Amino acid sequence: MSFTINETISWVGKKDWEIRKFHGEEYSTHRGSSYNSYLVRDEKIALIDTVWAPFADEFVSRLGDEVELGKIDYIIANHAEPDHSGALPELMKAIPGTPIYCTANAVKSLTGHYHQDWNFQIVKSGDRLSLGGKELIFIEAPMLHWPDSMFCYLTGEQVLFSNDAFGHHLASEHMYNDQVDRCELYQECIKYYANILTPFSRQVARKIEEFVGLNLPVKMICPSHGIIWREDPLQIVTQYAAWANEYRENQITVIYDTMWDSTRKMAEALAAGIRSADPAVTVKLYNAGRGDKNDIITEVFRSKAILVGSPTINRGILSAAAAILEEMKGLGFKGKKAAAFGSYGWSGEGIKIISSRLNEAGFEVINEGVRTLWNPDDKSLDGCFKFGASFAEQNFFQKEEE
Ligand code: FEO
Repeated sequence: MSFTINETISWVGKKDWEIRKFHGEEYSTHRGSSYNSYLVRDEKIALIDTVWAPFADEFVSRLGDEVELGKIDYIIANHAEPDHSGALPELMKAIPGTPIYCTANAVKSLTGHYHQDWNFQIVKSGDRLSLGGKELIFIEAPMLHWPDSMFCYLTGEQVLFSNDAFGHHLASEHMYNDQVDRCELYQECIKYYANILTPFSRQVARKIEEFVGLNLPVKMICPSHGIIWREDPLQIVTQYAAWANEYRENQITVIYDTMWDSTRKMAEALAAGIRSADPAVTVKLYNAGRGDKNDIITEVFRSKAILVGSPTINRGILSAAAAILEEMKGLGFKGKKAAAFGSYGWSGEGIKIISSRLNEAGFEVINEGVRTLWNPDDKSLDGCFKFGASFAEQNFFQKEEE
């Protein structure tokens, strides 16, 4: 299936309704995804990005139905990750000499992936490629989210092809943002930002500033995953600017792992205490062993503060708690507070370990945490309730902002 966006641009990508895990097992895609490839027809014909390798044959075959492959003058590789470059080997067998426009870093990563001596044409920010009446302007976007990442902008049509940036994993029968469920779209966008782009927020903020400074009018933003931003397309750019700036909502998330429910009972008492002290705050609880890792990270991204709990086991903590802490360390959250909790039977160093890992992950750990011996009794649970209330009081950031 292809889709005509306008007289110049056609979508020639692939909607992947089945995918539920992306990046190997790293990223959950509850709503599927799409690999968007765009064909731009002016006096010259350019193809922007391809699709993931499992769909390479189908992609090349359908592309051949859309345009005589030999008539493609230029290939633009905005990003070398295999979900966008995976069909290049198959395509290049059909049109081997076609120039591939990409960044210098993309030559390294494309060569590293495919070990082919293709006709690479290195471009830098500000370089232009004439298609006849219209031009493609290249904008390097390193670390959004790989060193090779790049945007390109089509003059005349006023369309930004942003690759992963402003994208989201969402398979839809629709093509545009004004046609899909806004809540689902927002959820997939924030999840994408939280899980993929959080570590690169400084680069995101700088790139947005630079792009806005170019004063290029934007009628549409065409990312390489999900739907196209047609209605108020810059809304997602504004949203990215907010997310890049130590984003937090009035939310506290409680994440725990538990063996015999002692730490779960603590988590629930902590949550009740938080609510009692601040009825306006959103409190969410997740068992890290049972919840979806990427969904939990999205809630962490939304939070102004988090509590992380695990019982002590073998002088350490449970593996699901350790895994989510490791994930948070990699993402490097900023401007968020945290504390630890957990039950123990004898050695009891779990909360110290959690506090240390929270620190390493960039959180401001605001106290030593709370622990209970064995199964918490009413007195212990009351202690957790009070700890939660005090934690909420120390996180009244909305009041600070008044
Ligand atoms: Fe959608 Fe970074 O690949």
